[in-house]
Amino acid sequence: MTLLVTGAAGFIGSNFVRYLIKQTNHNIVSYDALTYAGNLSNIQDLPKDRHQFIHGDICNGDAVSQALQNHNVSTIVHFAAESHVDRSIQSADPFIQTNIVGTQRLLDAAKAHGVSKFIHVSTDEVYGTLQVSDPPFTEAHHIMPNSPYAASKAASDLLVRSYVETYDFPAIITRCSNNYGPYQFPEKLIPLMIHNACNNIPLPIYGTGENIRDWVHVEDHCEAIHAVLTQGNIGDVYNIGGECELTNIDIVKKIITICGADDSLMTFVKDRPGHDFRYAMDISKIKNELGVSPKMSFEKGLQDTIDWYMSNTKWLSSIINGDYQQYYKEQYK
Ligand code: NAD
Ligand code: TYD
Repeated sequence: MTLLVTGAAGFIGSNFVRYLIKQTNHNIVSYDALTYAGNLSNIQDLPKDRHQFIHGDICNGDAVSQALQNHNVSTIVHFAAESHVDRSIQSADPFIQTNIVGTQRLLDAAKAHGVSKFIHVSTDEVYGTLQVSDPPFTEAHHIMPNSPYAASKAASDLLVRSYVETYDFPAIITRCSNNYGPYQFPEKLIPLMIHNACNNIPLPIYGTGENIRDWVHVEDHCEAIHAVLTQGNIGDVYNIGGECELTNIDIVKKIITICGADDSLMTFVKDRPGHDFRYAMDISKIKNELGVSPKMSFEKGLQDTIDWYMSNTKWLSSIINGDYQQYYKEQYK
């Protein structure tokens, strides 16, 4: 079987392709536009007899169709997206283009080609925000996105749903909480704080730092997506999460301790506009129906992640330059 993985040069996509190489015998076509967040070196060492890379944009329906035909693709796992909330606040345009228009073009190409399964990788952020005492999000929770990123992902989820209902399209949607692990672009909380703590650079904490996220190690996310791919019900939504709620300040303190940095590096900065207070996932459905639960403890996962960034300083420094420097300056000017 040949799978096409969109966004495979990014954080979760590259981890998922590695997971498939290790755990299955599928052939994989990685399809990625290599935006600022895509890095070919994340997947360049994979075995050439089972893995091929296509440099392409999901918004280009003809290029997608050609890739599906040339490689006789039966299944698509769709990660490609603009993924950073702060960038969506600076400019929503690329989010609308890739996350909504790109998903629609991909769906049309996949429908015309006749794929047997399409996994749409989405996020808990489509559900909006929770207060401390609220129960975690279930799959039945209303869609109430608060950032342009979350709104664009919610729109893509609704498009996927509409193709299932209208065309009997064989799609399944997954919604996951915050991921961490190797190969994450250092604009996101955990890799940014690791980089700064290890380089004696201030750690920018938005607002009070009391916001809560539910953290899952990327390998647990990959395992859950694979379970959905092999056993999930067409047309269903599956929540994925780590059952590990932590405040941002908790996380920053843990990173400071492991990296041996000074507490005085913690710097409270202006809050993110529309900053969601809390995300938490009820993952009973995937646990009960597919037998999947997160395995990695946050303590071990964080230590492993810090070790990975420490042994991959070249990877990190190749990213912390150019476009990223400019973005960082704009963000904290
Ligand atoms: P990422 O930003 O690290 O990677 C995105 C990848 O998509 C990059 O390789 C980029 O080059 C590629 N891409 C962007 N636009 C493209 C286009 N038009 N055509 C082809 N490729 C394009 O993102 P990530 O953190 O790996 O997230 C992957 C998916 O998982 C996204 O859909 C995101 O919404 C979802 N998700 C992420 C998290 C998280 O915590 N990171 C949590 C839940 C869901
Ligand atoms: P992020 O990694 O951007 O993920 P998301 O916003 O999609 O959950 O941010 C995680 C949390 O960390 C979020 O509450 C915002 C906060 N944050 C900071 O306090 N400082 C930072 O520099 C960043 C990037 C995030």
